[in-house]
Amino acid sequence: MACPQHHDSLLPSQGLLWLLLLGLGLLHFVSSSNCGRPPTYPSMELMGPFKYMYVLGDHVNYRCKPGFLSRPVFITLSVCGPSGKWTPVSMDACYKKSCDLQVDPVNGQVILLNKSYEFGTQIQFSCNDGFYLTGNEILHCLLNGSDVKWSGRAPVCEKVLCQPPPNIPNGGYSRHKDVFEYLEVVTYACHRSPGEEELSLVGDRRLYCLGKDLWSSPPPECKVVSCPHPVVPNGRQTAGFRVKHHYKARVKFECHQGFFLHGSDTVVCAADGTWQPPVPHCEDTPPPATSKVLHASRRSPNSTNSRSNQETSRSQRAKGWVPALSVVYVIGIMILCTCLYRFIRSKK
Ligand SMILES: *[C@@H]1O[C@H](CO)[C@@H](O)[C@H](O)[C@H]1NC(C)=O
Ligand SMILES: *[C@@H]1O[C@H](CO)[C@@H](O)[C@H](O)[C@H]1NC(C)=O
Ligand SMILES: *[C@@H]1O[C@H](CO)[C@@H](O)[C@H](O)[C@H]1NC(C)=O
Repeated sequence: MACPQHHDSLLPSQGLLWLLLLGLGLLHFVSSSNCGRPPTYPSMELMGPFKYMYVLGDHVNYRCKPGFLSRPVFITLSVCGPSGKWTPVSMDACYKKSCDLQVDPVNGQVILLNKSYEFGTQIQFSCNDGFYLTGNEILHCLLNGSDVKWSGRAPVCEKVLCQPPPNIPNGGYSRHKDVFEYLEVVTYACHRSPGEEELSLVGDRRLYCLGKDLWSSPPPECKVVSCPHPVVPNGRQTAGFRVKHHYKARVKFECHQGFFLHGSDTVVCAADGTWQPPVPHCEDTPPPATSKVLHASRRSPNSTNSRSNQETSRSQRAKGWVPALSVVYVIGIMILCTCLYRFIRSKK
């Protein structure tokens, strides 16, 4: 591990010294009279052949890159100048090629996403209401060899038409046709039930043709929906008296004197034959206070309740002002006293 004695020989350090001198000389030579690599440009490329080193007076020529066209009068020649700098070329010498003009499709528009048809840009197609696009929505202007081309064919706008909507059991719709136009409406209705039970239409009664074979919603269902007769012990029904409660039937309740309503006073017969919200019940104790308070605070923000809230918050804000005001007050008095003191002394 001791320092090797053999390396005391002059040979390696001598070699190092020579290398250093050579490097310094080269650096000096390069920096004084040589140009570095010719600069690169986004629109232009160097025309060969390339050299390892360029000296004063050497020149290079540029040509337009693929996808660019040249403007002949502009300078594309660069010369290695005396300070080791390349003379500039004209940045306007080459400009981007453009793809073919695209006209608006029938019943639609073409949108220039990059405000030009130049190579590298995109265009988008859209169709008017009542028409739908078939084909490429977006085209790119791309390089193909040395030329530029759209990435595909322009799309077309086709008229929106709907196949008839589905038939449903126990019901049907008006206006039977082979095809329906855009925004045309069909209205479903349920058949008169042959039995005792009334059929209810569950879902959307009216369907619109919105897109190609696309109706605004699935067809409704015609079915018997009946909710059990609601019973509220210690209470009574106040509205919605019927023999049978079908879909969307609404019933209202109140409790007998001395009892408190727990739940909603109004319930509606839902599509699954249950009451929504559930039938309330009457108890001899009031419902938990928390839920009542929560209920009150959830009421519209501009009720009297919230006005009193505003007032309390205003008074709280006023309370926040008190310390600040008293500080100002004290400082004011101190200044006044100082002035008075000086005034009195000056009089003396
Ligand atoms: C063209 O516009 C699209 C959409 O605004 C954008 O994503 C894209 O980068 C733009 N391309 C160029 C070359 O500016
Ligand atoms: C370039 O153009 C040629 C001839 O029109 C075509 O066959 C080829 O698919 C194109 N290439 C691209 C990438 O679009
Ligand atoms: C409360 O204000 C909203 C608008 O902020 C209004 O639509 C509503 O009718 C108001 N309700 C009451 C009870 O004033």
